[in-house]
Amino acid sequence: MDAIRIEGGKPLVGEIVIGGAKNAALPLMAAGLLTDEPLTLTNMPELADITTMGNLLRQLGMRIDQSALGAGADIAEAGATGRTMTLRTEKIASVTAPYDLVRRMRASVLVLGPLVARHGEAKVSLPGGCAIGTRPVDLHLKALEALGAKIELKQGYVHATVAKRLKGAQIIFPKITVGGTENVLMAASLAEGETVIENAAREPEITNLAECLNAMGAKITGLGSGTLRVTGVEKLHAARVPVVPDRIETGTYAIAAAITRGSLKLKGTRYDLLKAVFDSMKQAGVEITETPDGIVVSAKNGLKGVDVMTEPFPGFPTDMQAQWMALMATADGASMITETIFENRFMHVPELTRFGADVNVHGTSAIVRGKTKLSGAPVMATDLRASVSLVLAGLAASGETLVNRVYHLDRGYERLEQKLEACGATIERVGGG
Ligand code: EPZ
Repeated sequence: MDAIRIEGGKPLVGEIVIGGAKNAALPLMAAGLLTDEPLTLTNMPELADITTMGNLLRQLGMRIDQSALGAGADIAEAGATGRTMTLRTEKIASVTAPYDLVRRMRASVLVLGPLVARHGEAKVSLPGGCAIGTRPVDLHLKALEALGAKIELKQGYVHATVAKRLKGAQIIFPKITVGGTENVLMAASLAEGETVIENAAREPEITNLAECLNAMGAKITGLGSGTLRVTGVEKLHAARVPVVPDRIETGTYAIAAAITRGSLKLKGTRYDLLKAVFDSMKQAGVEITETPDGIVVSAKNGLKGVDVMTEPFPGFPTDMQAQWMALMATADGASMITETIFENRFMHVPELTRFGADVNVHGTSAIVRGKTKLSGAPVMATDLRASVSLVLAGLAASGETLVNRVYHLDRGYERLEQKLEACGATIERVGGG
């Protein structure tokens, strides 16, 4: 198994191009099931999760054609590099998302809404627990039931069926759910009549999906708000849509600049996608400037500890919590980090302490007592964002760090080592970790 070896302690200086968001690209790909016409997605990232989703969608009958990285049209349209992917599902060939794929990538559950809306049937394996929490899909299922789907659970699979068309309904989510909102948006677009989604997730990836569905002929209003209104249509059609920049990749490299007390220009991304994180970084003493094509992040020693609490968008994202903890481990003074989205998302804490970080967990909060110098260590991570927090700590730490289980990183960070190396990091992938 591959590992990443880092020789840390050097300030990063340079420019990094931010790719399209994984968590926007995955639901956009699922939306390709809703029409027999082509859906073209530009600014697509090249990641293991995108390949996994592609494999699942091909099994369901989708044809996927993709252009090379950095195609000219992408740069012109999205201001960034990335692939263009054209998806076409003339016929649904299978309605089953098998356990083996869903287990590996929970976002597979996003095919549920599109399949039942277009084809009247879906059989999707229940994802089971995962490293950051129990992550049930009960809210997806209740919402689809409200739209008229019959839901049965058999042998680990959700079997959703509807005799004719789904019917619009009022859906009030008792808890904000990103994937649940996405599944309902897609299903309601082809339902009969109006659906109102209350307490909808407001993440930029949701807005990207709603814009894509509208470009395909759907009628969705309230984009960016907690109430989405969907007037169902009989058919959706071809569209061409850019994937929004990855705000978590943006934030991760912003922390890379800050934790190494360096200066990075992040190109092809936007401040408003990650305001809560940038505001906290500014409070800590990091300098952040907006430019016409991105953001410049610079830091010097003497950063202060700042408390954060994870919340749904526009709050501080749970997907930035581990990276924030690594940064706070190098700040002067204490900070409290409270996780409110997932119940088990402090798995990086024991690994960060191997660098010498001083972190104590009390229930859903972690107290970090910062110190300026971390020292490199062999470490191992349990999920994508935890892994990258260890890379960040390794970049700041003196001496050698070996991060094991890098396959987690490949799920969500495109060419991570190359991007960091180009800014002065000593980092390489080695076999046998
Ligand atoms: C999305 O997961 C992201 N994944 C996650 O990113 C992200 O951490 C999360 O949203 C929160 O921002 C994708 O977009 C592919 P939720 P999702 O439904 O949709 C509970 C990463 O590292 N819940 O908003 O699965 C759930 O257990 C990943 O890129 C229910 O109880 O998250 C959690 O506590 C990790 N019942 C909370 O809601 C349900 O039916 C929010 O989950 C659904 C969710």
